[in-house]
Amino acid sequence: MSDVQPACAQKSPYKMEVEAGQSYWWCACGKSGSQPFCDGSHKGSGFHPVEFKAEEAATISFCGRKQTGNHPRCDGTHRSL
Ligand code: FES
Repeated sequence: MSDVQPACAQKSPYKMEVEAGQSYWWCACGKSGSQPFCDGSHKGSGFHPVEFKAEEAATISFCGRKQTGNHPRCDGTHRSL
């Protein structure tokens, strides 16, 4: 991770349906135009996407504030910022 803070994509999580066996790449930098997932916009920022492998079909709350301590999932940190 970089010392630079990530951009805030949105101040609440993105609830997304995931499919069993699929990999999803969560945007850590906050600059993707395809939130909450990486679109390559992090290049040169020092941030890198984080892989989420779905073991089962589910609805996942992906962090939008990019300050979660449990990336890529929301841990509620956005409520205190
Ligand atoms: Fe944000 Fe890739 S665009 S990590």
